[in-house]
Amino acid sequence: MPIISVSHQKGGVGKSTLAYNLAVELSKKFDVEVIDLDVQETVSSYNRIRKIMGQEPLKVKIFTDHDELVHYFNIVDENKIVIVDSGGFDSALNRLSILAADFILTPVSSEFTELLGLEKYNQILQQISEQTGNTIIANVVLNKINPTQKHFDELIDFINNTDHFMKLDSVLRRRVDFANSVGHGFSVNELDASSESSKEMNQLVQEIISKGILNG
Ligand SMILES: Nc1ncnc2c1ncn2[C@@H]1O[C@H](COP(=O)(O)OP(=O)(O)OP(=O)(O)O)[C@@H](O)[C@H]1O
Ligand SMILES: [Mg+2]
Repeated sequence: MPIISVSHQKGGVGKSTLAYNLAVELSKKFDVEVIDLDVQETVSSYNRIRKIMGQEPLKVKIFTDHDELVHYFNIVDENKIVIVDSGGFDSALNRLSILAADFILTPVSSEFTELLGLEKYNQILQQISEQTGNTIIANVVLNKINPTQKHFDELIDFINNTDHFMKLDSVLRRRVDFANSVGHGFSVNELDASSESSKEMNQLVQEIISKGILNG
């Protein structure tokens, strides 16, 4: 029962967008359940649009209570893949999703100010690591990157100098498809399987699968 937590205490980085697209893609092969911890209930809203537009809906559960989420993680079916869409802030619930995760996916943009957000997130991961005695690693995926940008030296330097981040190879560029697909009740792949956004999303899905976390 792998738990994939899409997490970053910084808002607006693309957690809900990636959680939704990842859930739609993995649902084609696996039994996927999405846990919505985002107070804006973004994935739940996207899923409502899916239903209205006649697409196969995702299984989405909303949690607002810490103990109920602990209970859920304790009893959830071994064969399910759980994808958690964390809120863009620090809270006991969001920390629990980091603590329980088998794989943490952290979208980050490439602007310099993003490093300040990562610095703060690094401190949170450090605190959770100290509490548990395990070094928690978040897998950083570059998201909303200008399609012409090729170098990410500052970010890579920063990541190499912290204990809690690994950079994934996949890079998701800034593409209008991510917003446009939602209105049709689609993922970017369902909107247009040959688009650049789909290819980039597929690469991310393959990279996550290649980490072996879905093999049990
Ligand atoms: N690769 C991308 N290209 C273009 N737009 C994107 C991309 N990823 C996300 N977005 C857009 O960025 C905005 C914020 O994305 P999203 O809601 O997924 O962020 P979030 O991290 O979940 O935010 P919050 O912390 O508020 O929950 C949305 O309008 C979304 O469509
Ligand atoms: Mg969100």
